[in-house]
Amino acid sequence: MEPSSPTADNPFAAYRQRRLSLIERMIRGGGGVALVPTASEQPRNRDTHYPYRADSYFQYLTGFTEPEAALVIVVGSGDAAAQSILFCREKNLEREIWDGFRHGPDGAREVFGFDAAHAIGELDGKLAELLADQPALWFSIGHDAGWDGRIAAALNKVRAESRTGKRAPAAIRDVRAELDNMRLVKDDTELAIMRRAAEISTGAHVRAMRFVAPGCFEYEVEAELLHEFRRHGCEYPAYTSIVAGGANACVLHYVGNDQVLRDGDLLLIDAGGELGGYASDITRCFPVNGRFSGAQADVYDLVLDAQAAAIEAVRPGASFIEPHEAALKVLAQGMLDLKLLSGSLDAVIESESYKRYFMHRTSHWLGKDVHDAGEYKEGERWTPLAPGMVLTIEPGCYIRQADDVPQAFWNIGVRIEDDAVVTAGGCEIITAAAPKKIADIAALMRGAHTA
Ligand code: GLY
Ligand code: MN
Ligand code: MN
Repeated sequence: MEPSSPTADNPFAAYRQRRLSLIERMIRGGGGVALVPTASEQPRNRDTHYPYRADSYFQYLTGFTEPEAALVIVVGSGDAAAQSILFCREKNLEREIWDGFRHGPDGAREVFGFDAAHAIGELDGKLAELLADQPALWFSIGHDAGWDGRIAAALNKVRAESRTGKRAPAAIRDVRAELDNMRLVKDDTELAIMRRAAEISTGAHVRAMRFVAPGCFEYEVEAELLHEFRRHGCEYPAYTSIVAGGANACVLHYVGNDQVLRDGDLLLIDAGGELGGYASDITRCFPVNGRFSGAQADVYDLVLDAQAAAIEAVRPGASFIEPHEAALKVLAQGMLDLKLLSGSLDAVIESESYKRYFMHRTSHWLGKDVHDAGEYKEGERWTPLAPGMVLTIEPGCYIRQADDVPQAFWNIGVRIEDDAVVTAGGCEIITAAAPKKIADIAALMRGAHTA
């Protein structure tokens, strides 16, 4: 049976607590057996694989990061103790010489605190037995054709034994839907990791601000970011870093990162490290030469004001969309004031003409995935914010060259992005250490280049 409370001396207690929460949800949903497999390794070419990253749901419930593994939780009808069973690779000295340490089932059970563990090769043989006479199978179909096929084979095996009185689960429930709801509100263990990921990532942005000067290449700046992530223990960047000078900043997902940075241009960097399976997501924007032009400063301060309005709107009980609406109002008014648009504020918002310059939303959930799990709407109603939820606040303004746009604004692309944890009183910006006021950025860059 799962112990109910985490202890400080067991780093895997939080994972057991999450399994217990899932078990409670499964019992409320009528019981059954859950299967949560990890991600498969992806070949890159011949003997080379893409860097391995465990499946977020599996990792969330286990803390186990080896490939070729699956978690099975047997709840039955909820009248007996639930069992958490790990299936993982066996110990194999020959393979461990080539590829590194494997816990093996016995080691994994002991270290991670499962009730039982078996070799992954035994899973298909045991699945039918595990599924027989269970009220429901909790699995998420459609994400991996290989696993869908294995599940179908196991179900058919139980069905084929119906003459012996065995029954296949009558229902298939989406286990990810329950886990999405759980993952939406971060526990203290998750928040501690996310604060550290944010701290490392803000350090990377500060490093980039100190490094940049006219004539350097976008990829050199990317290398500075990656160096800072990795030297503090981030496993990878949480997503491909965007290092976009000048007009490239108006390409929202620019990842070419191969152009030279020119005197007079702005540089937009959207980059964050992933630590312990948790993402950070930060955007900063600053002049390559350390000095904002008048038009650059106008657009920058407009986006900064919009971001401040959005942050002000983050509090428990507010809906997910309120920060976006607050940012949008400021941005739309600013576009009118800068003569980028004409008409009334209401008309700009109603007609969505602002989308020419601000074409994305202000926020997304953040957690194990950079665009994290969790619903944005419950039916027609936007999800209300609650303490422990984490969302980004990232308004932007992207102005392409066009005949009807004053030339001073051409190719200015600005986004300012921070990560907000909803708290009882409002929110905590965990990425605040990366400077974003014009005076603070200018002072940092001036100091770096005169030091
Ligand atoms: N870096 C991805 C995003 O901001 O959504
Ligand atoms: Mn983001
Ligand atoms: Mn981002």
